[in-house]
Formats: sequence, C-alpha cells, structure tokens
Amino acid sequence: MCYNPAVSHPAPLATTLAGVELRNGVIAAAGTCGYVDELADAIDLSLIGAVTTKTITREPREGNAPWRMVPTPVGMLNAIGLANMGLDAFLEREVPRIRACPTTVIASVGGHSIDDYVAVAHALDETREFRALELNVSCPNTSTGRTFSSDPAALAEVLRHVRAVVEHATLFVKLPPDMADPCAMAAAAIESGAQVLVLCNTLPGMAIDVTTRAPRLSRGTGGMSGPGIHPLVVRVVHEVYSAVARSARVPIVGVGGVSTWTDAAELILAGASAIGMGTAIFADPRSALRVVRGLDRWVCAQQCTSIGELVGQVRL
Ligand SMILES: Cc1cc2nc3c(=O)[nH]c(=O)nc-3n(C[C@H](O)[C@H](O)[C@H](O)COP(=O)(O)O)c2cc1C
Repeated sequence: MCYNPAVSHPAPLATTLAGVELRNGVIAAAGTCGYVDELADAIDLSLIGAVTTKTITREPREGNAPWRMVPTPVGMLNAIGLANMGLDAFLEREVPRIRACPTTVIASVGGHSIDDYVAVAHALDETREFRALELNVSCPNTSTGRTFSSDPAALAEVLRHVRAVVEHATLFVKLPPDMADPCAMAAAAIESGAQVLVLCNTLPGMAIDVTTRAPRLSRGTGGMSGPGIHPLVVRVVHEVYSAVARSARVPIVGVGGVSTWTDAAELILAGASAIGMGTAIFADPRSALRVVRGLDRWVCAQQCTSIGELVGQVRL
C-alpha cells in the first residue's frame, strides 16, 4: 500500500512518539516554519507529520543583528538568536490559530534560566493545545542557549523542574550535535523525564569575509545546518539509540541535513522513529512532501508494512 495523499489509510508511515500520534514521521523542525502555519501557503500541512514552532522565550527577543544567515557549500550558518514575540504575545496571537492547524503542533520552549523554562513550559502546557513541548537547550546563538546541555547534571536539573509542571504535553528535549558524551546526556535526559529525544540542533561554526577580514555573521559564530551535518547526526542517533534509547524505549527524532528521502531513511536505520527537516524546507518547502512519498515507497520496497520495522535496523 503506497502513498496516495488523496486516500486515507492506515499509513505505513504512521508513528507514535511517546503517545503523540503522527500521520507520518516527517516533522518541520523548530525555527523553520514560523510560529505555527507560515508554511501553509506553500504546502498542505496535513500531509506532514507535525510542525514545530520557533522557540518561544518568556521575553520578546529581537535576536541578533544582521547578518544572521550565511549560505555554505553544504548548507547554511545561522545566528538568528531566538528572535520571537515572547510568551504573552504568542499565547494571545498564535495559540488560538493552533486548533485550526491541520497537523500536530509541537511547541519549542526556550529560556536563559530554569525559571524561564518552567514558566514558558507551564504556560504552554496549560493551554492544552500542544501534544508536545520541545525543550530547546541547544541553541548556539545566544549566550545562555547551551547552558543546560553543557553537562548531564545541568540537563537533569532543568528537566526535573520542567517535568514537575508539565501535566498534559509529552516532553521532548532537543540536544546539540557536539556533545562530549551523547549517551551520558541522553541517559540523564531520560532519567529526568524526557520522553522523546530530538537529535540534533545546529553545530557551532564560523565564516570569515577574507576581504574585510571580519566574520560574516554579526555574532561572529553561528549554527551550521544542512547536508554538511548529516553524517554527524546519523552517527549521534546511532550511538544514542544503540546504547540508551532502544533499551529505555524512548523514541528519537533525527534532525540534521535531511534533504531527500534517503537522508531520512538513513536516520531511521540509525535509530530515529521520526525525522525533522529545516534547511531543506527553506530552500523548497515541497521537499518535505517528496521525503514523505520517498519513505512510503522505501517501506514498500523493503517489504515492510510499517516504518517502525526499520527503526534501528542498520546492518552492522
Ligand atoms: C534559520 C534557522 C532557525 C532555527 N531556529 C531554531 C529555533 O528557533 N529553535 C530550535 O530548536 N532550532 C532552531 N533551528 C535548528 C533547526 O530546527 C534544526 O535543528 C537544524 O537546522 C538542523 O536541521 P537541518 O539541517 O534540517 O536544518 C533553526 C535552524 C535554522 C537554519
């Protein structure tokens, strides 16, 4: 039974992430589709599994000064710096639109302190509009964005506090790609209440204008995304799945450099139950639909009835 968007059927791509049911495991990654439905003009959102909001912080944020995006030969560097309207405006203006969104919406939660994360997560959870909250503890573009992914103890502490105030939504945590010990971080996250691991955010990088000799991003450094980080993310997903997540039965969302269905399939074989797409969606929002169709054909070609049968099935 292969993919036909006109027909509703128990799709081979349907997946459940710790109770969050998705019609397929293709997710628009945080920061790449606006607050809720900015992609709706470009694609039919009901054809993808979920969209993730840009990260919401307690205070409104302008983000970093321009330039804050630079293309690279293998993707891009961004230093947006969590620009967003802030929690109160998001609750007032955007949350009412979420009910009309034809796919699952995951809210991304940011902050500078434990109090911040707790306040934003609690307020968003109280709305009961989000099936999942994704804790972004891995933004490389603010001074405090990676404080809580610097070591397992810091991560455990913020998660325990957030876990205590989140009653309705499933708790995702999004980690960086350059952790010294990804398995220790994943284990700490799971022990402290994370129900889904999102691997990974962008990788710190830098570009220099050789004429002016100045960094090309105003902040100096930025986060690398796109095809250049894909093999790194496949490796991190594989390690975390094999050593921690499989035995704990905690699903992984693999995010990093997915442009085609084969990139997505690699992440599934490495151990991801779903995949996120960011940079490719900027270039062409319809790439997400091509990934859905390609994965559907792949599951058929692998003679499986569900994509779940292929999770972690790399032959070593
Ligand atoms: C312009 C831009 C903005 C982003 N904003 C956020 C954000 O607000 N929150 C977040 O958790 N990740 C953010 N990310 C990271 C993406 O969600 C994703 O983890 C990363 O880009 C790797 O995936 P990709 O290679 O498919 O782009 C952003 C990425 C880009 C390129």
